[in-house]
Amino acid sequence: MKLKSVLIWCTWLLVALGLAGYLGAQMFTEEQKPDFLIGESSHGHYQIELQCVACHESPFGGPEVLQNACTSCHAEELKASHDSHPKSKFTDPRNADRLAVIDARQCIACHVEHNPEITHPMGVSLPEDFCFHCHQDIAEDRPSHQGMEFNTCASSGCHNYHDNRALYEEFLVDNAQGHWLHDDYQTINRDLKAYLQATGNVPEDKPQVKTQMNDAELSAMTDWTHSKHYESNIACVNCHGSEDNWLDKPPMQQCQNCHQQEFDGFTSGKHGMRLAVGMTPMTPAMSRTSNSTLSFHEANSNTPLTCNTCHNPHIVDVKQAAVNSCLSCHSDQHSESFLDSPHGQLWQAYENGQIADTEAVSCASCHMPRITVNEMGIDRVLVQHNQNAVLRPNEKMIRPVCMSCHSLAFSIDALADKTLIKNNFTGKPAKHIESIDMSLERVK
Ligand code: HEC
Ligand code: HEC
Ligand code: HEC
Ligand code: HEC
Ligand code: HEC
Ligand code: HEC
Ligand code: HEC
Ligand code: HEC
Ligand code: HEC
Ligand code: HEC
Repeated sequence: MKLKSVLIWCTWLLVALGLAGYLGAQMFTEEQKPDFLIGESSHGHYQIELQCVACHESPFGGPEVLQNACTSCHAEELKASHDSHPKSKFTDPRNADRLAVIDARQCIACHVEHNPEITHPMGVSLPEDFCFHCHQDIAEDRPSHQGMEFNTCASSGCHNYHDNRALYEEFLVDNAQGHWLHDDYQTINRDLKAYLQATGNVPEDKPQVKTQMNDAELSAMTDWTHSKHYESNIACVNCHGSEDNWLDKPPMQQCQNCHQQEFDGFTSGKHGMRLAVGMTPMTPAMSRTSNSTLSFHEANSNTPLTCNTCHNPHIVDVKQAAVNSCLSCHSDQHSESFLDSPHGQLWQAYENGQIADTEAVSCASCHMPRITVNEMGIDRVLVQHNQNAVLRPNEKMIRPVCMSCHSLAFSIDALADKTLIKNNFTGKPAKHIESIDMSLERVK
């Protein structure tokens, strides 16, 4: 046995038997020292890897403890994406032989942790051609698939294991036609106030400002009088508490009181995931940039990510939040190419007052798209604050983002072209994915 597996085995034995005493008790209570980690975790999770208890919820119980942890954080998102391979597909006894090779009812059959040597993008720990084990007969069913390599099923813009919403055959056929760019894009709809009014979160009276103010407070007040909060009668006391009990730095929970949905989104994505498990806020310095394509500006290395990072709490300017705030931290090639790209040019035209916000594309247009949620019987459009919700696999972006402006075919091709992702979509796609052609052929 290799030394590492011996170590893993020993640690696990200690923990599993509940004999670990000091060590075990610690692992299930608080953040650990890095040397306690048995192996680096995947790109999705390393930010919370020292909070062992986020996944190893209890020292007792078998694999179901881990399974519960996975589903407690991810079940909703898989359900929302109409998971193509839910557990329920594998309870059919006729599938027993398939499960003998890969027990697809268990998340950890495909997503182990602490094992960087075998971990691929999206935390997948099986070789790329694993679809073969269950779909080796696909070419018999579909002559179009004759001769295709099994390592291309999920890596070339055609299929995903969980989320196939943008790739359903019927959807491909229905959207086969269309100019690459629609001439009437979707408008930005924001009906926030109506909802907050319905929940009683918007004060009726004119805002109550602090009566005794020093210079800093006067300056905060000047900013605030230009904000949407001012227009909606949200004043100093709504965030800072009462005048006698003034909070100097109102915590994020104050924002959460009125903006629960944004808070939930923020804490389910990368930016807020540490806060969600009781750790300190994320900073760029915590990013494992050495083995990813991410990079950040030195100057903001230690800037913590909270609501106030993108929203100055007194100005709450969404324009600033949508591009400039992102670029104050992110400095990878994709981010840095944005302003010079055709989308970035549109954004600059909007900033210069030449076009309307509905015609512009920002970082947020793609990474924080608008979603409609129904709360208390009211349909409300808001901004998705989980920037990972449509990030990977990137076909997730097609329906809610690209297709409001582009054809399906153009969007599929553009997202499959790695060069276009790097240069932030400057130029036409050099790739062509044949899934639409194949679907049309089949229904002919
Ligand atoms: C994001 C979730 C997550 C976090 C956080 C996490 N682990 Fe794990 N851990 C896993 C998964 C998944 C496995 C794989 C189980 C398997 O392969 O059967 C695992 C396996 C293990 C094993 C057994 C190794 C084996 O292969 O059987 C040990 C020991 C362990 N983790 C310790 C820790 C410690 C200590 C921490 C905190 C420093 C930690 N883990 C944090 C998810 C996590
Ligand atoms: C405490 C909540 C939490 C737990 C527990 C958890 N995850 Fe995650 N997971 C996240 C967050 C947050 C991300 C990063 C954002 C994202 O990619 O959605 C993530 C990322 C991932 C990714 C990578 C997605 C990508 O784009 O790279 C996979 C796969 C994944 N989780 C599977 C699992 C599995 C399997 C388990 C159980 C062993 C598990 N998660 C446990 C919160 C959690
Ligand atoms: C453990 C077995 C198993 C593995 C591994 C597996 N599948 Fe499936 N897949 C199934 C089962 C079961 C169904 C249900 C339909 C059927 O009987 O074929 C299915 C259905 C599908 C469908 C059509 C259904 C739909 O609603 O979208 C697609 C497409 C698909 N799989 C693609 C893949 C791809 C791509 C991979 C590899 C990334 C993969 N599968 C890996 C078992 C598996
Ligand atoms: C048979 C293998 C397999 C099993 C079992 C599996 N996954 Fe995945 N998962 C994948 C593959 C492959 C990807 C990579 C993206 C793709 O091809 O769709 C992925 C991607 C993901 C992602 C990234 C986002 C997304 O929507 O694709 C998350 C999150 C995730 N898995 C969570 C889970 C959870 C939670 C479970 C258990 C309920 C689970 N997976 C079970 C193979 C599997
Ligand atoms: C939407 C919530 C909100 C409203 C309304 C608000 N503040 Fe603040 N204020 C904050 C937050 C959050 C901080 C802390 C920022 C930080 O942590 O750096 C803050 C910080 C301050 C500071 C510290 C200096 C600074 O600018 O960072 C002063 C002074 C201040 N507020 C005064 C006021 C006054 C006076 C009003 C009313 C005219 C007001 N605030 C309205 C949320 C608010
Ligand atoms: C007492 C309730 C309340 C609190 C507390 C509150 N907000 Fe708001 N917020 C509102 C209302 C009402 C609006 C609606 C303004 C509109 O669109 O007309 C709003 C709008 C916003 C907007 C959108 C501005 C725009 O131009 O559309 C942002 C961003 C925002 N709030 C952030 C925050 C942050 C960050 C905090 C915490 C520091 C916070 N809010 C605290 C009630 C609140
Ligand atoms: C990574 C940057 C970022 C962080 C962190 C962030 N926001 Fe936002 N937020 C944005 C952007 C960008 C927009 C507007 C996007 C647009 O107009 O296209 C926005 C819009 C909003 C809006 C108005 C639209 C809506 O959804 O109703 C509210 C309210 C809001 N944010 C509240 C919050 C709160 C509360 C937090 C903390 C829990 C927070 N934001 C954290 C970037 C951020
Ligand atoms: C205070 C600095 C900061 C600001 C401001 C910021 N980010 Fe981030 N962002 C980070 C850090 C740190 C990570 C986590 C990187 C990691 O470790 O995976 C991250 C992660 C991301 C990811 C996920 C990357 C991945 O591989 O999972 C996306 C997408 C993203 N940010 C987009 C944005 C957008 C869009 C904005 C503006 C609306 C923005 N960020 C604002 C620091 C920032
Ligand atoms: C037209 C849509 C679009 C726009 C505009 C856009 N992005 Fe992206 N972004 C993407 C896609 C697609 C990916 C790749 C997802 C994948 O395949 O992993 C991505 C990836 C990222 C990542 C992860 C990169 C990595 O190496 O893991 C970050 C961070 C990011 N974008 C930030 C930004 C910022 C900041 C801006 C604005 C300056 C921006 N993006 C503008 C679509 C967009
Ligand atoms: C709000 C509308 C809008 C959204 C959303 C949008 N785009 Fe665009 N896109 C445009 C417009 C308009 C242009 C053309 C700009 C020009 O010609 O100056 C464009 C240009 C492009 C180009 C460059 C074409 C060239 O000839 O250089 C690519 C590639 C592209 N978009 C891909 C995407 C992808 C992929 C997505 C989704 C992730 C997306 N776009 C989302 C409106 C949008």
